Amino acid sequence: MLDPWTADAFDYDKIVKKFGIKNFQEELLKIKNPNRLMRRGVILGHRDFNKITNLINKNEPFAVVTGMMPSGQMHIGHKMVVDQLIWYQENGGRLSLPIADLEAYAARGISFEKGKELAINEYLTNYIALGLNIDHDVNIYLQSQNQILQDLSFRASMKTNFSEMKAIYGFTPSTNLAHLTAPISQVADILIPQVEEYGGPINTVVPVGIDQDPHLRLTRDITNKLHEELGFLTPSSTYHRFITGLTGGKMSSSKPKTAIYLNEETKNAVKKLKSAKTGGRESLQEQKELGGKPDECVIFETLVYHLMDDDEKLKEIKEECLNGTLLCGDCKNRTCQLLEEFLDDLHEKQIESREIAQTIFD
Ligand code: TRP
Ligand code: SF4
Repeated sequence: MLDPWTADAFDYDKIVKKFGIKNFQEELLKIKNPNRLMRRGVILGHRDFNKITNLINKNEPFAVVTGMMPSGQMHIGHKMVVDQLIWYQENGGRLSLPIADLEAYAARGISFEKGKELAINEYLTNYIALGLNIDHDVNIYLQSQNQILQDLSFRASMKTNFSEMKAIYGFTPSTNLAHLTAPISQVADILIPQVEEYGGPINTVVPVGIDQDPHLRLTRDITNKLHEELGFLTPSSTYHRFITGLTGGKMSSSKPKTAIYLNEETKNAVKKLKSAKTGGRESLQEQKELGGKPDECVIFETLVYHLMDDDEKLKEIKEECLNGTLLCGDCKNRTCQLLEEFLDDLHEKQIESREIAQTIFD
């Protein structure tokens, strides 16, 4: 069972095998101009992404859906989704971005008012500051405010039953019913670009963390059942790995020591990254002899996921780390410098993007 609300440790290989997710590596070769997270194996799996590859390569339209659950502060790990959205936008995708305030209420007790406030000041402000163009074919809505979504959820709920929900999510007789309705809202989020009001059936990709796969299995099944009636096409999806927290476990919004927040003071964030867990050895001597372990290093991961665009430079750092010529002190300092530049720049952009975000629901 993969529970999207509590999962925190992932055995990626096992999940991929168990649920029949396809490896992304083979698909990668067919994509003309793959995104950094694709090239670097951060996106590890997919369902039916070949349909999307073909459309991108032929310059034909497709939709992209990924939601944000407004439940806390946005951290640097959340940036991954935004980077993918920007890439899809550049490659002809029509974006639909639900704000899952129903889910935030059901799963985290966040009121609708608070959810909306967080969506604007945390999520949308940062999405825009990170480079997403919300004026270009993007549909942003609050689940609780969207009548088309409510109607579609209702229709979707008629195509599943308790046994299926139980098989996917492991519910028990005492499960709160909002844990049944919230996933159905997500099914509707994923299908909404295909309703007549938004242009009718279209191939869709859902880029998400691997914890969201249960929702996609449910959506795909419901879509097949709705196909005859509404002509909906089965959505594709991609799955990315999660970013490691600064202390080695999961990066979590509710645990400040593990996370770099996008709104956090640069000085503070740099201080945290400076004391993050590395793949360095016990002593300088040992490091020079054996080299470091970049694949177990939070600093290196930060470069891979976020701060180092240049593949060649990244490769050099990895080699120098492995052969012991690069020492953790220097490597950390350089990475912290990049983080500082990134955050300072982002904070400056947030000022204008907050103003834009505040007008979205007017
Ligand atoms: N459940 C997702 C999360 O926890 C948010 C979400 C809502 C979503 N609707 C969606 C993700 C539609 C992908 C597609 O972050
Ligand atoms: Fe990590 Fe850099 Fe140290 Fe290598 S040298 S273990 S990449 S901090």
